Amino acid sequence: MTQQQRTAIVTGGARGIGAATAVRLAADGHKVAVLDLEESAAKATVEAIEGAGGTAAAFGANVADSAAVEQAVGAVAERLGAPTILVNNAGITKDNLLFKMSEDDWDAVMGVHLRGSFLMTRAVQKHMVDAAWGRVVNLSSTSALGNRGQANYSAAKAGLQGFTKTLAIELGKFGITANCIAPGFIASEMTKATAERLGVDWEDFKTARAKEIPVQRPGVVEDIANTVSFFTDERSSFVSGQVIYVAGGPKT
Ligand SMILES: NC(=O)c1ccc[n+]([C@@H]2O[C@H](COP(=O)([O-])OP(=O)(O)OC[C@H]3O[C@@H](n4cnc5c(N)ncnc54)[C@H](O)[C@@H]3O)[C@@H](O)[C@H]2O)c1
Repeated sequence: MTQQQRTAIVTGGARGIGAATAVRLAADGHKVAVLDLEESAAKATVEAIEGAGGTAAAFGANVADSAAVEQAVGAVAERLGAPTILVNNAGITKDNLLFKMSEDDWDAVMGVHLRGSFLMTRAVQKHMVDAAWGRVVNLSSTSALGNRGQANYSAAKAGLQGFTKTLAIELGKFGITANCIAPGFIASEMTKATAERLGVDWEDFKTARAKEIPVQRPGVVEDIANTVSFFTDERSSFVSGQVIYVAGGPKT
């Protein structure tokens, strides 16, 4: 089955998993709105897509800001057509042990991951309902199962799994699926910053983490982009409300 061209929004598309996902969805034939905090930061991803013959545009918005989200989704619809694929990928970490974790660090992480995914999905779902077709993919994490120093992040990532299942239940009758990807260790600026914070050399950090992974390598951003491509495929319409751990081995 050939893919019908859709308009996709990838939040946090300026770099890392989001950038690779935007590139992949464009290669799948879709028009891609690359959304990040600053429009200028999303331009490199847009240029990569255009350089490969695809269609994309950059949009600036903080996903935790409802007015900015409404404005950006409206601008995407106007410029690229009604969005019917949404990848809620934007994310931050503010790690600390519980007794040292500030309320600001708790709220910031909840704001981007949970409030951000809620606001984006609420703004985009009307376009999906109108089209009687939609695909929502939310980025969870293996940290949803618990991770030292990440009380805020693990709670947000576990919350996204419940959010996804509820979206699947509410929106299924409109031809919309919602699924969740829970990556394990993926080499990106986010995990590089973690190594820096721990004072560990990046190459040593990757080698040590790879030893703990059954397939014996760190994940790469394309591993996640490939899974997004599966969930957004026309042929995946009976797959909904699922959480897939993409972690080089099983997670429970
Ligand atoms: N890298 C990993 O190992 C890993 C593992 C599990 C889950 N994840 C999740 O995957 C997603 C992407 O991770 P990554 O490693 O590519 O991260 P990254 O830090 O490299 O990129 C995140 C992007 O999100 C953008 N962003 C942050 N806050 C935003 C906001 N409020 N509004 C709009 N954009 C915002 C950033 O500017 C950045 O471009 C995140 O949700 C992350 O939690 C990553």
